[in-house]
This record gives sequence, structure tokens and C-alpha cells, in this order.
Amino acid sequence: MRQVRTLGLLGTGVIGGGWAARALHFGIDVIAADVKPEMEAWIRGAVSNAEGALARLTFAPLPAKGRLSFTTDLEAMARQADFIQENIPEQLELKQRVLADVSRHAPSDVVIASSTSGLMPTELQRAMLAPERFLVAHPFNPVYLLPLVELVGGQQTSAAALEAAATFFTCIGMHPLKVRREVPGHLTDRLQEALWREILHLVNDDVATTGELDDAIVYGPGLRWAGMGTDLIYHLAGGETGMRHMLRQFGPCLKWPWTKLEAPELTEGLIDKMVAGTQAQAAGRSIRELERLRDDYLVAIQQVLREFNIGAGATLRALEQRLYESSSAAARVRLEGAAAGGAPAGPLRLLETQVRPEWIDYHGHMTDSRYLQVFGDATDALFRYVGIDDAYRSGGHGMYTVETRVRHQSEARVHERLYVTTRVAEIDDKRVRLEHALHRSRDDVPVASAEQLYLHVDTAAGKAAPFGGAVRARLAALLAAPH
Ligand SMILES: NC(=O)c1ccc[n+]([C@@H]2O[C@H](COP(=O)([O-])OP(=O)(O)OC[C@H]3O[C@@H](n4cnc5c(N)ncnc54)[C@H](O)[C@@H]3O)[C@@H](O)[C@H]2O)c1
Repeated sequence: MRQVRTLGLLGTGVIGGGWAARALHFGIDVIAADVKPEMEAWIRGAVSNAEGALARLTFAPLPAKGRLSFTTDLEAMARQADFIQENIPEQLELKQRVLADVSRHAPSDVVIASSTSGLMPTELQRAMLAPERFLVAHPFNPVYLLPLVELVGGQQTSAAALEAAATFFTCIGMHPLKVRREVPGHLTDRLQEALWREILHLVNDDVATTGELDDAIVYGPGLRWAGMGTDLIYHLAGGETGMRHMLRQFGPCLKWPWTKLEAPELTEGLIDKMVAGTQAQAAGRSIRELERLRDDYLVAIQQVLREFNIGAGATLRALEQRLYESSSAAARVRLEGAAAGGAPAGPLRLLETQVRPEWIDYHGHMTDSRYLQVFGDATDALFRYVGIDDAYRSGGHGMYTVETRVRHQSEARVHERLYVTTRVAEIDDKRVRLEHALHRSRDDVPVASAEQLYLHVDTAAGKAAPFGGAVRARLAALLAAPH
């Protein structure tokens, strides 16, 4: 299967727009194809709406943004894309027909995936050419912020197609969850629908309003679910003996049962109650406004989970690790080219960032402590670049900070984009002195500069120790490189 540089989207509604925003952000070109020409304006709007939240998700160095093009010619898209994601309406015959059509124009090493919420891959791939490269890749709205994508193969799907899809989705910051066996609704929608059926019953029977039922999730189980799923949470609920005790204690009530299982009839009365209830909850706020609120807290939650390296936070952390490594590797290649008399190295621009709302002081400027953070992040990037990374640290060596001097030159306001250039100013056997310059991206105005002195240590002994040979050589090359 081929490496993905261009993603083809078939259908550019809510889900197609979400795929486009995510892929473009992580450096993939997108050809969006839809039967309705008016969807071009829509998808461009959707991508720009997503940009604010995506820009705050991670400050790790990203590849250059992908380019978006739009077409109503589905065949042209199929001929050019390296990976095709179908997102047209949830109708079996329509999807079967369009997928079969597209498969006749896409080279056979191009994976074709469907965003279907619940249709079975074996049904969808029936009339396709090279059906072994087809699978279901079911995302969650908003696709650009939620990392989960369920991967489901049909009877004809090859292991290679599933593997290639998992690799691609991981590259764009997702968590591919391989579903072992196809079932209607895959895994997540089966779980969600069970909950939703109960909601409809409880509203229908006038037991609760939609707002009360949402409170029943938001103030309790919802908070737990972001970090641990129902099973692990129930294991904890069983006390010292965990799940075994939990099942003994609460197992019998599964037979009563509390829940209804069958969905209620969707009468006009029930529909009215659901609509009136959710309108009351929206309290006059537009869908766009609520989306912004949802996006902001989804970004913040993932950043908190990253600290604990669990759930979506673990996905974010792994993504950042890859981004830092690939940016360091690219910078190293540039430097080695310069050392070999090739192209000049240019300034070492290892960190791009943006002033977050929580970083500002009472004057609306970036507050003092954040300068230290930004310069510290730039130092981290430089250390990774010369080979002082997790592997190096687990070998028993690391860098300790001896001194930092910061000079403020201009102010940076909220959401201002910034970059740091870094220079190795001095080295000896055990010490390195770095000079950083922080600039505003829009006009290159210097905002602050910093000088930092670091000591190389043997961490077990807690004593200064000489640099390893390779690290020392790279630092020396940086010192000698043209700036
Ligand atoms: N909305 C969600 O929350 C969600 C979540 C996960 C998966 N999905 C799945 O994603 C798919 C798309 O859902 P959506 O909510 O984005 O729908 P949508 O109605 O917003 O978008 C569908 C798009 O497909 C286009 N289209 C229709 N026929 C087409 C054709 N023959 N060729 C090309 N384009 C065509 C339409 O013009 C429209 O722009 C469905 O299979 C759905 O089950 C939806």
C-alpha cells in the first residue's frame, strides 16, 4: 500500500469537513469531492472554523499545512488520491454504488475506507474492484479533535489494508481501534445507542428531561469516562477484590432488569419533548457557539490527560514525540549537509508556538513565567536535536540548568504566533551555553532573548560528567555552523 500524501474525500459534509481539517493540519493534501458544487464554500468554512482549536491542541513542530482543493469530478479525485475516505449519506445502496464506481478509477494499492456509523464492510465492498483494500474507518465528530477511529475489515479485506490504514491514521494523530469482528454499529455506536435508547425511554415516560439526563452524565460518569472506560471504573468500584466483587454485588440486578433494551416508538410527542428539551439546554446559543465551547474543552481535556499519559492524552503525547523527533531529524540532516559543505544551515528554528489565553498577565501580555517555559521548550528541542532524548536519559545522563538570563524587548499578546531561534554559543567538556531569540511570527520583531547555561550530568552519581562523543560532536558542529 502506498504512502499517503494526498487524501481524497468522497462527500464533504460534517464528517468530510472534519477529516479535511485534521489531515490538512498534519501536512496532508486533501482533494475534497462532492456532488454539490456549493459544498466547496462549506468545506472551506468548516476547515477554517476548526483551525483555532487545532492550533491550540499541540505546539510540537508540525509539517507545513496541506493544500485543499475541491472537485465535483469524483473520478478525477479517485485517480489522484493516495487514500480515499468516503463520507456520503448513510444509505447502503448509495454507498455500494459510489464505492464500486470509485474503485474502478483508484489504483489498486489505494486504500478506500468508509466513515459509516454502522453499515457492515462485507456489504459495502461487494461490488468493488480490488475489494481487499476496503475497510470501515469510523471516526467521531469533531473528527479534527477526537482521536478515535474504529477500523473494521469485511470478509474480503486484507490485513495489509488494515495495517496501512492504521499507520496513516496514527500519522494524523488518531487512535486506530481495530474491531475484531464486524457487527452492526461497530463498538462505540453500539454502546452509545444503548444509552440513547434509555434516554428516549426516560423522556418518553416523563421520568426526566433531556437536561436532567445530560446532567446525570456530565457531573458523574462523563468525567470518569475521559480517562478510564466503564470496565476499569467498575473494577475500581468493586473495592479490593475489584471486578469479581462488583459482579457478585451488582450482577443479580442485571436480571431484573433496570433497563428497557427495545427502543421506544418515535412518536411526534416524544420527538417534540426531545427537541424542546435540547433547545432549552442550548439557551439561545447557536450551534456554532456551542461547537466552539465543545472544541475548547476538548482541547483542554486532552492536554490534562497528556500529563497522565492516558486515553486521548497518551495519543497526543505519542504524536508530539513523533513530531519532535521528525523535526529534529530534519534539522540534523540540514546541519550535516552544511558540515559537508552543502547548503548553509541557516538559523536553527526549532520551536514554533502561540500565546495561549492562560499565559497572559493583567496587561494582556505573555506573563514572565511563560518566557521561561518557551525558552525551556526551545532548549528541549535543541537537546533532542543533538541526541539528548529519552533514550539518552535512560542511559543515565542528562542536562541540569545552571543559569538563565532573560531580556524582554517587546510584548506578545494572546494568540500571537511566536518562534524561537537557537544558537550554541559556547561548549566545553561538560557545559553548553545557548542563546535563544524569541520572535513574533507575523513581523519577525524580537520579543525577548535568553542565555542559558547547562551542565551535563551523570544522573545516578548526581555529578557533572563529560558529554558522550556523538552529542559533543553535534554540539561542536552547531557551534561552528553559520548562523
Ligand atoms: N455526523 C456524525 O456525527 C457522524 C459520525 C461518524 C460517522 N458518520 C458517518 O459519516 C457519513 C457522512 O455523514 P455526515 O454527517 O457527514 O453527512 P452529511 O449529510 O453532512 O454529508 C454528506 C455529504 O455527502 C454528499 N453526497 C451525497 N451523495 C454523494 C455522492 N454520490 N458523491 C459524493 N458526495 C455525495 C452530500 O452532498 C453531503 O455533502 C455517514 O456514513 C455517517 O454515518 C457521521
